[in-house]
Amino acid sequence: MDKAAPRHSKILILDFGSQYTQVIARRIRELQVYSEIVPFNISAKAAADLRPNGIILSGGPASVYDKSAPQIDKDIFSLGVPVLGICYGLMQMAHHLGGKVVFTGRREYGAGKLEIGDGSKLFDGLGSQLDVWNSHGDEVTALPQGFTVAATTEGCDFAAVEDRQRKLYGLQFHPEVAHTPRGTEILKNFVYHICRCAMDWTMGSFIDEACDRVRAQVGDSKVVLGLSGGVDSSVVAALLHKAIGDQLTCIFVNNGLLRAREEEVVQRVFGENFHVRLKYVDASDRFLTKLRGVTDPEKKRKIIGNEFIDVFQHATEELLEHDRREGNAGHGGYKFLAQGTLYPDVIESVSIGGNPSHVIKTHHNVGGLPEKMHFELVEPVRQLFKDEVRQAGLQLGLPKEVVYRQPFPGPGLAVRILGEITEERLAILRAADTIVQSEMEAADWYYKVWQSFAVLLPVQTVGVMGDQRTYENAIALRIVESIDAMTADWARVPYELLARISNRICNEVKGVNRVVYDISSKPPSTIEWE
Ligand code: XMP
Repeated sequence: MDKAAPRHSKILILDFGSQYTQVIARRIRELQVYSEIVPFNISAKAAADLRPNGIILSGGPASVYDKSAPQIDKDIFSLGVPVLGICYGLMQMAHHLGGKVVFTGRREYGAGKLEIGDGSKLFDGLGSQLDVWNSHGDEVTALPQGFTVAATTEGCDFAAVEDRQRKLYGLQFHPEVAHTPRGTEILKNFVYHICRCAMDWTMGSFIDEACDRVRAQVGDSKVVLGLSGGVDSSVVAALLHKAIGDQLTCIFVNNGLLRAREEEVVQRVFGENFHVRLKYVDASDRFLTKLRGVTDPEKKRKIIGNEFIDVFQHATEELLEHDRREGNAGHGGYKFLAQGTLYPDVIESVSIGGNPSHVIKTHHNVGGLPEKMHFELVEPVRQLFKDEVRQAGLQLGLPKEVVYRQPFPGPGLAVRILGEITEERLAILRAADTIVQSEMEAADWYYKVWQSFAVLLPVQTVGVMGDQRTYENAIALRIVESIDAMTADWARVPYELLARISNRICNEVKGVNRVVYDISSKPPSTIEWE
């Protein structure tokens, strides 16, 4: 939680386990107002300490009468801060303030028409009728004292309610989803006109604040960052470089499992363009030696993770040694490790009714490093969603190729070579992968999908080339669409594009005579093959 004295407006979102909680947070941020998600059971005192301009209670899958139903600290309604309860949030409001909620036994789910009464600030400028989206089981049947009806739907007399005096508002429907087409305007009214938030959450102001925070945190100390070339670590590098210049050293480890020319790109962008202090470590031999003969995916990951820690540790020792030789080691060592942790990784999870959206995502970052080396962490983008990190990157002057590049797993091509990793198989996969990327870019598809890559399968198949029978490798092509990698679907790219990629790989990559397209979604498959 961000306890620092707010220099900008803030909306707190209490999470009751809705799959839409993060959507609400993003909608608010799109209005240039900072939003922060906190667990539903935050105390009124802790909520007040965060100095919000307004509070939103999310929906949730529970019924207020369930034994384990999440319940709010009802003193939150007396803080004098405007509160908007959405769906389950409205039930909480009604239930705790003396109204009546019943469990109807049927779920109202789907589109509805909202009939709007006069004079509610929440619906200012929205006319008298609105399409809205419902998804709820409980229903309010009697309002708490002080509340009035602001809008109704055919099936619901209390579709929108309010207590203007206490600035408490409740909606039975979901304003945050796309199926409520003018929902953002309702949120806008709440945020700007009821909570009186200013539009002061801009990328420029975020960057300035983040720089100040980093300077205050690290003082004169030195910071290291494992730069992978991915979006998150690249943005952190650019941000920290702006904040602390040469106090930052980026360590780029070539583990021998990178895509073709990856190391050149990173050195060009960061070394030459940004003049970041960059230590390039070519540890390919070490990694590939350790991986020799290993075929088990988890073993591969473990070996790569452990090697990375060793290589990284050694690299920081070398840096310190170098500083000493230069008579420049007064800083007493590299105490801080910067990481590209994002907001979805730090939101405290609320598991309600087994809702899968609340299973914490495994954090793929450099696991184990901070503990092993007693680093203190610097995480300057931990308040940002992925799309905001990209905006920050652009604002900091990173090229589009870096900012919008597709995710690439830490263990690299190791998890895309099924079976043993050898130099020869790496060369085959790199060549195939380069063709995939260049054809995706040429067809304008690269930036439309989440990931597109080649996988080298551990099978050989029969083919024919000229008059010769061949017996060679098969490549699987994986192109997926996704919002957050938690779920994904295979991309319906044009057949012509698939044909071009397949033809080129079979013709140009020695050792491959077959290409297949992976048409599995996640779940039940995963995006990577290992
Ligand atoms: P899966 O294969 O689990 O992948 O559907 C989800 C997303 O995470 C990436 N991924 C990884 N990233 N280290 C990483 O840094 C890993 O070990 C790893 N495994 C998967 C994958 O590329 C996809 O975007």
